[in-house]
Amino acid sequence: MEANKFVTAFYHETSKLAWERLEPRGRKLDPALLLSRFRFYTGAPIRSLPKAPARPVPLSDLFSGHTLAVFPGPLQDLLSGLLWYSVAISGYRHTPSGETTPLRVVPSAGNLHPVEVYLATAALPGWDAGLYHYRVPDHTLEQRGTGNWVEWLSNLAGKKHRPDLIALLTVVPSRSAWKYGARAFRYCLLDAGHAVEALRLAGLALGLRVEVVGGFSDDAVTQKLKLTDEWPVAFLKFWLPTPCGLTGPPTPPALLPNEPSDAGAGSDLPPLLRQALEATKASHGAPIQQVDQRQSDANGARLSPVELPGPAELRAPFDSVVRKRRSATEFDSQARPVRLDELAALLWAAWAPLTTDFSATEELSRVEIHLFAHSVEQIDPGVYRYCPSARSLIPIRLGPQRSMARQLAFGQSLAGSASVTFVLVANLEAFWQAHGERGYRYAHLLAGIIGHRLYLGAEALGLRASGIGAYLDDDLQRYLELPSTHQPLYLVACGFPISGFEPRD
Ligand SMILES: Cc1cc2nc3c(=O)[nH]c(=O)nc-3n(C[C@H](O)[C@H](O)[C@H](O)COP(=O)(O)O)c2cc1C
Repeated sequence: MEANKFVTAFYHETSKLAWERLEPRGRKLDPALLLSRFRFYTGAPIRSLPKAPARPVPLSDLFSGHTLAVFPGPLQDLLSGLLWYSVAISGYRHTPSGETTPLRVVPSAGNLHPVEVYLATAALPGWDAGLYHYRVPDHTLEQRGTGNWVEWLSNLAGKKHRPDLIALLTVVPSRSAWKYGARAFRYCLLDAGHAVEALRLAGLALGLRVEVVGGFSDDAVTQKLKLTDEWPVAFLKFWLPTPCGLTGPPTPPALLPNEPSDAGAGSDLPPLLRQALEATKASHGAPIQQVDQRQSDANGARLSPVELPGPAELRAPFDSVVRKRRSATEFDSQARPVRLDELAALLWAAWAPLTTDFSATEELSRVEIHLFAHSVEQIDPGVYRYCPSARSLIPIRLGPQRSMARQLAFGQSLAGSASVTFVLVANLEAFWQAHGERGYRYAHLLAGIIGHRLYLGAEALGLRASGIGAYLDDDLQRYLELPSTHQPLYLVACGFPISGFEPRD
């Protein structure tokens, strides 16, 4: 397979960061282009949501897929919980200049939050069946459509088993592109991966069965919802633990005529970003399979692998972990080393099973986890690759890595001061072979999903994480000794946070 025949291969190459590619005085950012992080539909009927129910389920239970107790409450509580524990506002950042910026349960590159969430539901007591858009600032739903949207969206994935509820995720790339240029497409997809995993875990915590869907016709969704600057990227199907008679109405889905509050506000997208978006539109859905990502990758080890102990338990309760999650802005490099069973727990969570339509068991694992171990008990500082099948770490190079990690992360000190900096690497060639252009999306969604697990795992262990999307692509690829088929997509630094540092993006 010639990777260079793909638009997304060209896009990936061209959107790489490298010192020599930077404009001499940096690109001037125009803060006037900062768009609202929130979209509203003017005049749409609004449904208030009740207080979200507590869900103090141990995080380990969710990652290990234990069957949870049936959610006892009314369905409105369930919808509220689903959003409250995934994409709602969970805090505020106060800047020295007196500005207050909302922060969300999910992290987002530059805190720009390009992801929008829609829920398709059957009729609930006091509610019409229809399509609802999540109004983030006031934690309410606004009605976008009437009729049987659940069935319509479900049929797009070609599956007969109709779910009880669907969450559709779209991205508004212009919200990120004003700042990050063409590279914003990557960040939008990573952000969407975070949101997918946040919604999936919230669903599990509420007792729902969940499947993630990436293969559907984008054009069908775009036309039906009359989207202009918004692109569908994934949806999640949810099933209630026991059938509750949630049959959809016989009426076909129809859209209400309301317009987005910020329609037309975004500037033109960089042509390269638009090309990549267009190229990944074609659907290549595959049959749903239970994905066990634990695949063998123990090739070519030159140094003795480090066997990992059993993982430390992530007993911390899901609801408080996700609501208190924050990104670290700097780490204490003098803090105690991370224990090996804590590292094992992070890797165990990262590799928890996932039900999607875009990652099949029989294929070689296409996302790998590499790590800069700066300060981990019982292992030498160095660069390692995680071998999930043997639950071991394969050394790639040994010796202190703090300075190199910082440089490779575009000079961001948190990559060097962390205890461990993970690098999520995708075999992009394999994604292209399996799914064509759409594989590029799937690779980033998976990296975002794994990144989210590392964030929550870190939080549950009393550590903290930060995603890092800005790194020197080719230098990092070479330093990790990756074959040309493999590309680093996302870094996640974990360690003991120091407070009082403002984020650099
Ligand atoms: C895809 C992605 C890329 C990110 N890249 C960086 C980065 O390069 N440097 C950094 O300091 N933070 C980075 N972050 C963290 C964001 O700045 C952070 O999520 C945002 O400011 C919101 O803060 P919160 O996570 O505490 O809610 C990234 C986050 C995501 C999801």
